[in-house]
Amino acid sequence: MTARILVCGGAGYIGSHMVRQLVETGHEVVVFDNLSQGNVEAVGDVPLVRGDLLDRDALAAVFAEHDFDAVYHFAALIAVGESVAAPDIYYRNNVTGTLNLLDAMRVAGVNKFVFSSTAAIFGNPQTPLISEDHPKAPLNPYGRSKLMIEQVLEDYGHAFGIRSVCFRYFNAAGAHPSGEIGEAHDPETHLVPNVLLAALGEREGLEIFGDDYDTSDGTCVRDYIHIDDIASAHLAALGYMETNPGAHVFNLGNGNGFSNREVMEAAGRVIGKNREIPYTIGPRRPGDAATLVADSTRARAELGWAPKTPEIERIIDTAWAWHRAPKYGPFAK
Ligand code: UFG
Repeated sequence: MTARILVCGGAGYIGSHMVRQLVETGHEVVVFDNLSQGNVEAVGDVPLVRGDLLDRDALAAVFAEHDFDAVYHFAALIAVGESVAAPDIYYRNNVTGTLNLLDAMRVAGVNKFVFSSTAAIFGNPQTPLISEDHPKAPLNPYGRSKLMIEQVLEDYGHAFGIRSVCFRYFNAAGAHPSGEIGEAHDPETHLVPNVLLAALGEREGLEIFGDDYDTSDGTCVRDYIHIDDIASAHLAALGYMETNPGAHVFNLGNGNGFSNREVMEAAGRVIGKNREIPYTIGPRRPGDAATLVADSTRARAELGWAPKTPEIERIIDTAWAWHRAPKYGPFAK
């Protein structure tokens, strides 16, 4: 069945891959994005409304013009370090902005909501694999802003009948196989793109933040998940909300941890011997947990979700195809 979907933040990295998948599966999509981080080119032929979640009139106008079945919300600020320095901006954008969006949905009578949450809500893990019920102790305002909305959605489910699914992503990486969309943050802070940009000479080497963690080789361990596997879980959420009222949460990862060194080694195998990845070891980055690996059993069991590209080298390979010839963003030629 065709659904009409509003994708907030559809011009960003994860949002644009979601838009692709929704369009490819026959849904009608409108993107709402302030383009502060996103790229207009990433949206393709889908209608784009340029607007901000803090502008309640702009939100009211988009809901008045269209009859949506569900809202997917990817429009957030995501830099952990920045959130520590400017918590006001993070809470205003990520919390107030989302409350405005939920208000506009309620006025328009739209009751299905899919929300991008994060592994950052858990803080330092107490178990090797992190399941949905793991204690929540975010280490920074970014993580707290996401956890607050998870709690809001629980309450809005009870009080207003809003059906919601929250996905806690572990480390999103990779790009669409078409090579037409990919990761294009400015500045880029994530490990996989920074490794590849260093190999391409697009940045002055790579700094690895700390090698004295309590892990196999001293560098941090993360669970990398292909961007299209994140999108396919969101797609499954649409049908799930039809039959499951209330608020639901799912962790999304592959359940395999790779250290920062292992990611560099895997990237080395993907890009071949004739390119160096110049790097230095620097101090720890504040707010980094040593290890974050997902237990995604619930998503597999309840959504019938299964990642199609779980192998780290294949994930990096799709990112490499994109970064060698980005169609937009700071390194587009
Ligand atoms: N890292 C480096 N050098 C870099 C970039 C990253 O050493 O140039 C390291 C980080 O210190 C960390 C690992 O690589 O150990 C992964 O870092 P990323 O920035 O790629 O990803 P994070 O794990 O910090 O962040 C991701 C999401 C956030 C989310 C967080 C949850 O991007 O939105 O997971 O912990 F909050």
